[in-house]
Amino acid sequence: MEVVVIVGAGPSGLATSACLNLLSIPNIVLEREDCCASLWKNKTYDRLKLHLAKQFCQLPHMPYPSHFPTFISREGFIRYLDDYVSHFRINPKYCRSVESASYDGIVGKWRVTAKNTISNEIEVYITKFLVVATGENSEEFVPKVPGLDSFRGETLHSSNYKNGGSYKEKNVLVVGCGNSGMEIAYDQSNSGARTSIVARNPVHVLPKELVYLGMLLLKVLPFEMVDPTVLMLSKLKYGDLSNYGLRRPQKGPFYLKATTGRSPVIDVGTMEKIDRGEIQVLPSISNINGKDVLFSNGKTYRFDAIIFATGYKSTARNWLKDGDDLLNQDGMPKSSFPNHWKGKDGLYSAGFACKGLYGISADAQNIANDISLALNTKKEINLLY
Ligand SMILES: Cc1cc2nc3c(=O)[nH]c(=O)nc-3n(C[C@H](O)[C@H](O)[C@H](O)COP(=O)(O)OP(=O)(O)OC[C@H]3O[C@@H](n4cnc5c(N)ncnc54)[C@H](O)[C@@H]3O)c2cc1C
Ligand SMILES: *[C@@H]1O[C@H](CO)[C@@H](O)[C@H](O)[C@H]1NC(C)=O
Repeated sequence: MEVVVIVGAGPSGLATSACLNLLSIPNIVLEREDCCASLWKNKTYDRLKLHLAKQFCQLPHMPYPSHFPTFISREGFIRYLDDYVSHFRINPKYCRSVESASYDGIVGKWRVTAKNTISNEIEVYITKFLVVATGENSEEFVPKVPGLDSFRGETLHSSNYKNGGSYKEKNVLVVGCGNSGMEIAYDQSNSGARTSIVARNPVHVLPKELVYLGMLLLKVLPFEMVDPTVLMLSKLKYGDLSNYGLRRPQKGPFYLKATTGRSPVIDVGTMEKIDRGEIQVLPSISNINGKDVLFSNGKTYRFDAIIFATGYKSTARNWLKDGDDLLNQDGMPKSSFPNHWKGKDGLYSAGFACKGLYGISADAQNIANDISLALNTKKEINLLY
């Protein structure tokens, strides 16, 4: 019998476990991979840095040392997470892929089954509280593109991209103009690939200093004032985005982040390369045939490789059999922020507010406090009778 089972040892699961440990509430963390923070260790590209300033990216109860730079590198963040695990004595059970979790209303407990991926044995955990911390990014998403099967070149998802090493002189198409796509295109072009990027959706591109400024302003001012200020400053830098073949959304960047979870793109140098013609911006793909890719503007280009920076999806509902009140069929919260993290019957989700590490930190603390409250109330009731 467990008190709390946490599924996932990414930042969300680790933060929740740390907060529970501080309250002396026993918990176990189940993780399908062979290490913690596998998204960061095994599925990110070399030149990645945290997009937001460090004070918005820390986990509960452990600020970054003051000598760390404002924007932390991938290695720095991984080191921080490893330190976090040892500091709070978190001891995840690795190579445990959770396959189902269902609520037994008669005994009032969750039944979680996990496959030990080394021995192939099925393990069963019975627990009072269950925390879903498997992430908004637990599976790669690749859109259906007509003719993709016929493509006679290399295809990969951004999660398998490390650096531009092997693409020199090649014709490379990056699909998707979010943060990963824009940065990978920059990396490719720097490595000597002839790079194109598909920008299908409208996008806000901002220098990271402006995002930082916006986040500081948001502490004291509403979106209605922050968005126009940031957009005006951005216009001074880039002029009209249509000069780059890009379109801005109708609504402002911080409004969109808060209401839809979509982040603005932080420019790492891609815009200058587009401006100089070193990266070509293309509209959506209509069809692929061999190495020829036809675009919606009627033009065709040849490519040696296609990199899909088309994002991820949650897979929580593949294994979470009950919990309709908490997560919808897409594995994302049913209730909107700030009521997204708590379900009924001792079920919680950490890290599903589309608010990055800042949101993760809040979720972890809310969940630990709520479990503590539930346990103490029960103790008081037991004392009364
Ligand atoms: C490329 C990239 C850059 C990002 N940059 C930033 C940034 O700069 N700032 C910011 O605030 N946020 C950023 N984010 C968003 C977010 O903060 C991170 O995605 C963060 O890692 C999310 O933490 P998490 O613990 O919720 O999910 P994850 O890190 O995805 O961890 C979930 C864990 O659950 C495990 N798991 C999944 N399914 C199962 C299962 N069935 N059984 C057992 N274990 C399972 C996974 O293996 C994984 O280890 C970025 C995201 C990406 C993809
Ligand atoms: C992921 O990376 C970590 C750290 O480099 C390593 O220990 C682990 O074995 C890797 N896991 C996989 C599945 O590659």
